[in-house]
Amino acid sequence: MRTPIVAGNWKMNTTLADASALARAVADGVNGIDGVTTVVCPPSVSLVPVSMALSGSNVFIGAQDVSAEPQGAHTGELSADMLSGLCTYVIIGHSERRSMYGEDDFTTAAKTTTALAAGLRPIVCVGESLDVRESGDANAFVASQVNGSLAGIADISQVAIAYEPVWAIGTGRAASPEIAQEMASTIRSAVVSMYSDKAADGVPVLYGGSVNADNAASYASAADVDGALVGGAALDGNAFPGIVKAFAASA
Ligand code: PGA
Repeated sequence: MRTPIVAGNWKMNTTLADASALARAVADGVNGIDGVTTVVCPPSVSLVPVSMALSGSNVFIGAQDVSAEPQGAHTGELSADMLSGLCTYVIIGHSERRSMYGEDDFTTAAKTTTALAAGLRPIVCVGESLDVRESGDANAFVASQVNGSLAGIADISQVAIAYEPVWAIGTGRAASPEIAQEMASTIRSAVVSMYSDKAADGVPVLYGGSVNADNAASYASAADVDGALVGGAALDGNAFPGIVKAFAASA
């Protein structure tokens, strides 16, 4: 039985004060909800105030990125060891990192390896562009991203995978629950080929892309979808707990 994960990716939004207030709203909103792992991923500069705001709550903290390098002369980067004192989760290979910052499957695998070594739980993101979907190659493309992004990783018991079609992120054009289910199943099959039935059975596969409090229940009822990675709606202190509740109701 996989516990759903609902993770909010705040991206480059919120001031220090906004972040603390939003964290408190999320903690209040999900107070008493069982059966779902709730995660917020604030900007790294807000990890400390958010961890203080969440103290005593059932909300976990994630980072939005991590360096593949362990330490040293990497101006502007944050290491997995730095983050592991503050975070449980880390988003790796988000499509914005891939499209705007030149990251690829190789980078994603390197970062995932480093994160796991530091005891972090990576949320590894994959997903096709509109061109790939329209050409009919989405399944093969995403399976290949899973292979590349987990290359060299022996144990994925601490890894979650997020299926985030690029065309659905921040567009209001959410993938249908049928597409989310089909692609989550494709991802699970890729994990069977790389690892084992047991590993595939245990790995949480999240859907991300224009998830909101109104459509969350439709993903929650998809057999292979084990949660959501949420952008825009994660900035709303009412909507985000609403998404967590939708997954709790179907858990
Ligand atoms: P969105 O973003 O919910 O705003 O579409 C999702 C994400 O980028 O993780």
